Amino acid sequence: MAAAASRQIWARKCLPVPWLLCGPRRYASSSFKAADLQLEMTREPHKKPDPSEGLLFGKTFTDHMLMVEWNREKGWGWPRIQPFQNLTLHPACSALHYSLQLFEGLKAYKGRDQHVRLFRPWLNMDRMLRSAMRLCLPSFDKVELLECIRRLVEVDKDWVPDSAGTSLYVRPVFIGNEPSLGVGNPTHALLYVILCPVGSYFSGDALNPVSLLADPSFIRAWVGGVGDCKLGGNYGPTVFVQKEAQKKGCEQVLWLYGPDHQLTEAGTMNIFIFWTYEDGVLELVTPPLDGVILPGVVRQSLLDLARTWGEFRVTERKVTMDKFLRALEDGRIREVFGSGTACQVCPVHRILYQGKHLHIPTMENGPELILRFSKELKEIQTCRRHLHCVGEAKIPFNQCQRNREPPEVQ
Ligand SMILES: Cc1ncc(COP(=O)(O)O)c(C=O)c1O
Repeated sequence: MAAAASRQIWARKCLPVPWLLCGPRRYASSSFKAADLQLEMTREPHKKPDPSEGLLFGKTFTDHMLMVEWNREKGWGWPRIQPFQNLTLHPACSALHYSLQLFEGLKAYKGRDQHVRLFRPWLNMDRMLRSAMRLCLPSFDKVELLECIRRLVEVDKDWVPDSAGTSLYVRPVFIGNEPSLGVGNPTHALLYVILCPVGSYFSGDALNPVSLLADPSFIRAWVGGVGDCKLGGNYGPTVFVQKEAQKKGCEQVLWLYGPDHQLTEAGTMNIFIFWTYEDGVLELVTPPLDGVILPGVVRQSLLDLARTWGEFRVTERKVTMDKFLRALEDGRIREVFGSGTACQVCPVHRILYQGKHLHIPTMENGPELILRFSKELKEIQTCRRHLHCVGEAKIPFNQCQRNREPPEVQ
């Protein structure tokens, strides 16, 4: 009864027109519809992992998955929630040959009130549709996909861990499934979503800082490329560079770009610097979304939070290694950190650049800002504080009103 009531509330808040939930409609296939969802429950539920034994990222999957197929002739099929299972793919499948593949990553959190909520999932839906358009994969209605995901999480809600720092990772995937070898628009595609309970990124309450290799001979993304989309093809080739970083005693890669060695991203995180800029003003800076940077959901959330506080300047501006080194020498750098769904905020304490190990004083400085961001995000995610409370304080959310409401799945 309570679950149905909260679902109603969410539907009322999020769906622009009430008749969207009024039962099956098959007159158009420009998108699949959540109202057409077919549900097949597993007959062999798996034992849920014990969070106290540590939940390694992406190793354990829940009992169910969402699956929707598309083909050019018939458009989208009916979405299905079905038992977690292997895929059957044609050996010529275009995702395997030409990387016609994209994915997303978001998390659901169990709040103190035992309700489960997705964190700002509309931003992931926006990014996913943009990635799909870049790959000429078929369009879909973001509201319908999000409702299907919400229903999947609801089916597997007992898999959402609730100890500190844990969550349910949601991985939507969209692939071209063309059964022929030509490089072109796929005539078949497959969208599916799988779920993994995940543990805390850091062990205990400690924030473990990372070291970064900054080597300009490796480039993650470039202007005119697809670094701003979440395509599998952006990630495979980084494994080699990550290994190079490890060989040199660093944990992750600081991706530089251009002849002036702009700092762009750190591993699979956006990068932030909290410093006194050369004009003497205290600021939080991150590189602008110029096509090279992935528009991270946590990146946007940190910018939104910091702008609401109004305590220091918040800037999206290019930062070159030259300017960074000068600030480091002048003692103007307070904290450097990465942001992303996996870690939320991750301090950086060392950068290896042009043969020199640069010590970054992030940990010596608290790290005050990192701890504050971390605490605020946790409070929002576990609903000790609503993101829309921040919204009421005039946070400049750049999306629609819907972004202010954390969706509940139970
Ligand atoms: C290259 C890259 N940058 C940044 C991010 C952070 O994005 P988000 O905050 O949406 O997780 C990710 C994580 O997916 C990433 O892969």
